[in-house]
Amino acid sequence: MLNDKKILIGITASIAAYKSILLVRLLVKAGAEVRVVMTPAAKDFVSPLVLSTLSKNRVTIELTEGDEWANHVMLGRWADVFVMAPLSCNTLAKMAHGQCDNLLLAVYLSATCPVVAVPAMDEDMWHHPATQRNIELIKGYGNHLVPVNRGELASGLYGDGRMAEPEAVITYLNTFFFRSDKLKGRKALVTAGPTYEAIDPVRFVGNHSSGKMGFAIAEALYEQGADVVLVTGPTRQRAAYEGIRVIDVVSAADMLAAAEREFDDSEITVMSAAVADYSPVTQAPEKIKKESGELVLTLKKTTDILKTLGQRKKDGQLLIGFALETHNEKEFAQKKLQSKNLDAIVLNSLRDKGAGFATDTNQVTVLSRSGEERVIGLRSKKEIAHEIVSFIIQQYA
Ligand code: CTP
Repeated sequence: MLNDKKILIGITASIAAYKSILLVRLLVKAGAEVRVVMTPAAKDFVSPLVLSTLSKNRVTIELTEGDEWANHVMLGRWADVFVMAPLSCNTLAKMAHGQCDNLLLAVYLSATCPVVAVPAMDEDMWHHPATQRNIELIKGYGNHLVPVNRGELASGLYGDGRMAEPEAVITYLNTFFFRSDKLKGRKALVTAGPTYEAIDPVRFVGNHSSGKMGFAIAEALYEQGADVVLVTGPTRQRAAYEGIRVIDVVSAADMLAAAEREFDDSEITVMSAAVADYSPVTQAPEKIKKESGELVLTLKKTTDILKTLGQRKKDGQLLIGFALETHNEKEFAQKKLQSKNLDAIVLNSLRDKGAGFATDTNQVTVLSRSGEERVIGLRSKKEIAHEIVSFIIQQYA
């Protein structure tokens, strides 16, 4: 989504300027073209050399250098979006009142692209009525605002005013400026994470699924414009976009119920959850006490959610499953594709290094019903998710 986008970063004098280094790095990594303007005072907080190296573009700071004039008008016209991160209390006040005593402010006043303010300041400054009034003023001019966080501040105090994390700034840009409309108006259902099958009120049968792959797929579908519902078992993941509707479930039975409720009007369903195949036949109402001898746990099969959905699938619905295999991978995956009535299956092999549950990376092969096969080599789960979604768009959208 950020590929080839032109992003201008404005850095002002704030301790949080260190975060803009990571922001520039992440944007460049995502394929954006990045330029940086700084206020002269910001140089005390972060080195222009680091920023010019990371952005691969000269950093502009002064209105004039030697006998050359920095063209502030063209910078604001070049950019698709101008992100002021971090925005200090001082520069905010100048923006609010149209002051122009440095290059960054001249770029701001002449920018024709949207401007996103990412403030950073100490709590008392943030809550001062003058600051709050200035925030309202710049919002009134049509500028966008990434809210401050609550947390540890440069002063050592704890409170509001922390600059949003670079990842959150990118999420904001993706949500409001760069979301594609390739899947607009299409509902997508994604399942993620493990399921926990209770033995008693404190113990369960579960697995190591982190949910990372499913969350990344939900986010990639959302970035392409889909209306996404994410049914997830217990994980530490949080959906990057507020627009993703998350349904938290615990057991395979809960996941089945939620998936069945959401399935019929979903055009795209991706079942990436690691659903428990077996669940205890009985759940003890009280904690099972330790006794001498062995404890035998009898398990019963859970309902295969994917298969159930495959039986209900109508024309125009796309159903994609995952297969985690340790041997005879393709043969088993093909069998699952047929027996569960899928349109495609994403094959994970635990024999591949860097693939599987707990890692940040994965490598997969996507097999489609029509015989297409796409090998996606070792990449981050986010990148793999984008590849899977681009496969979906290419084949079926
Ligand atoms: N799946 C499901 N419901 C289950 C078990 C699995 O919906 N009770 C789904 C998974 O979400 C995945 C696909 O089925 O998309 C394949 O899961 P996998 O564990 O690889 O295969 P199984 O069908 O469970 O078969 P086996 O464990 O024998 O390989």
